[in-house]
Amino acid sequence: MKKILVTGGIGFIGSHTVVELQEKGFEVVIIDDCSNSDEKVLDGIEAITGKRPAFEKLDLKERDKVEDFFNRNTDVEGVIHFAASKAVGESVEKPLLYYENNIGTLVYILKELCKKNKASFIFSSSCTVYGQADKMPITEDAPVKVAESPYGNTKQMGEEIIADTCKVTPSLNAIALRYFNPMGAHPSAEIGELPVGVPQNLIPFITQTGIGLRDQLSVFGDDYPTSDGTCIRDYIYVVDLAKAHVVALERLLAGKNTENYEVFNVGTGTGSTVLEAIQSFERVSGKKLNYKIVGRRAGDITTAYADTTKANKVLGWKSEYSLDQAMKSAWVWEQKIRG
Ligand code: UD1
Repeated sequence: MKKILVTGGIGFIGSHTVVELQEKGFEVVIIDDCSNSDEKVLDGIEAITGKRPAFEKLDLKERDKVEDFFNRNTDVEGVIHFAASKAVGESVEKPLLYYENNIGTLVYILKELCKKNKASFIFSSSCTVYGQADKMPITEDAPVKVAESPYGNTKQMGEEIIADTCKVTPSLNAIALRYFNPMGAHPSAEIGELPVGVPQNLIPFITQTGIGLRDQLSVFGDDYPTSDGTCIRDYIYVVDLAKAHVVALERLLAGKNTENYEVFNVGTGTGSTVLEAIQSFERVSGKKLNYKIVGRRAGDITTAYADTTKANKVLGWKSEYSLDQAMKSAWVWEQKIRG
C-alpha cells in the first residue's frame, strides 16, 4: 500500500480526496491545523470508507515539525497539498498571512521532498491564475494574468516555485491542478462543505438561503455581457475533482508523466450563469430561492470555464456529475447538517 500525505485533508476538497484515495487502496496520513476545518470530518471519512486515516494536527508553518514529520514517515511516496488559506477578501487585508500560509508551507514541504530519491507532488491551483481569459473555453496555455489578490498571487507563485524546483530536481515529479468552481458533497452525505461564518462562495450561500439560515442571496450584478447578464463559472462536482487528484497522482507514481512538472485544468467544460445555478437549486429542491440583484462584486471576472481536453486525453479523466446532480448533493448535505 502506497503511503500518501494529504495536507488539509479534513477540508472540503481534501476530505473528498482522502475518501477516493482510500477507496483505491492508498494509505493516507493527513496533516491539518484545523484552522478552517473540523476533526469530526474524520468520522465521516471513516463512515464512508470503513477506515480512519492517520491524522496529525500540525501547523505546516513550523518548519521543524514538518521536517520531523518527514523523518518519521520516510515511506511517504506522494503528497497532495491542499492546506492553504483561500478567502480572497481576507488576503487583501492580510497579505503576509497569505504569503506565509500558502508560500512558506509549500517551500518547507518541497524542501523535504527534494531530499527523497523519488517523490510525487500534487498542488491545488486555481483557474484564478488566468484572470479574465481572452478566449473561452480556457486552455492550459492561456496566459497567466497579473493576480487580482494576494490569494491569487499565492497560486501563481506556488506554480512558479514548483516549476523552478522541478527544473533542477529530476527526482521530483509534480502536477498542478487548476480547479474551476468546486461544489457539492459526497453522495453519502457523510462529508461536504463546511464554510466557517458567512459563505463567500455562491453555492453554499444558495443552500444556506434555501434552508433559511440566510434571508436572501445577493446576485452580484446582472449587467455583464452574458446571456442573462450574470457571471459565468464552471461548477465542478467535488467528487469528480477528488478523482482527478487520484488519477494525477497515479500518473506520477507510475512514471507516466512526460515532463516532471505538468498543469491540468479541472472543470466540466460547461459554463453556467449565477441565475442558472439558482434555477438548478430551485429544480432540485422544489423551493423558490429568495434572491435580489445587487451591484457587481469588486474583482469578479465575467466568464470562466475550462477546456478540459488535456485532462480528458492525458489523464483519462472526465467530470461525470451535471450541475443539477452536484446541486442536489449540496442540498442533501445542507439539510443533513441543519437537521
Ligand atoms: C472565488 C474567488 C477565486 C477562488 C474561488 C475559490 C473571487 C473574486 N474569486 O471564485 O479566486 O479561487 O472563489 O472557491 O472571490 N456570487 C453571487 N452572490 C454571492 C456569491 C457569489 O452572485 O453571494 C457570484 C459571483 O459574483 C460569481 C459567482 O457567483 O459570479 C461565483 O462566485 P464564487 O463562488 O465566489 O466563486 P468565484 O468568484 O468564481
